[in-house]
Amino acid sequence: MGDTLRRRTLAALTALALSSAVQADDTLFEQLGGAARLRGAVNEFVLLIQADDRINFTFADTDLTKFKQLLYDQLCALANGPCKYTGRDMRTSHAKLNITDAQFNALAEDLYAALDRVHVPYRLQNKLVALLAPMERDIVKPGFIPENGPAPAGVR
Ligand code: HEM
Repeated sequence: MGDTLRRRTLAALTALALSSAVQADDTLFEQLGGAARLRGAVNEFVLLIQADDRINFTFADTDLTKFKQLLYDQLCALANGPCKYTGRDMRTSHAKLNITDAQFNALAEDLYAALDRVHVPYRLQNKLVALLAPMERDIVKPGFIPENGPAPAGVR
């Protein structure tokens, strides 16, 4: 191999290694656009929830400033950002709300719309929502979930 070719090959391999290292280190939090973007999304999300008659009444007694902070911390932590969620677990915090499957879907729809408003690409919206989807079983009132699915444990 000539010297020039060797140098070029080395340069190309270095660039490749660097670019994949950067990608591997990018958390979902960073890909989403970091703190400012996520704060913006949470603000829009709460505005949309407040305007959404399908679910806004469930928040009638909620301190929305506190809720925003907890939601931000939760989403940031889930996306491997530099945050710690200190709120209650999902089962406890939603236990008295009798949330239906339709209401859960309405909230997810509002989250997509909020992420749209702050220009998070759809591919990344899906990544974030995929991390939230498993919480459905803790949030939706047991017995409301299975339309055609399996019965919840203990129900026949
Ligand atoms: C994946 C979906 C959801 C996530 C990630 C989520 C997240 C949260 C978080 C982090 C809190 C604060 C917990 C705390 O107070 O310690 C909370 C509270 C609350 N959530 Fe959700 N939630 C979801 C679905 C829903 C749905 C579908 C509804 C209603 C339609 C809802 C209504 C509420 C209400 C009303 C509160 C406040 C309860 C209170 O003031 O005591 N949530 N949620």
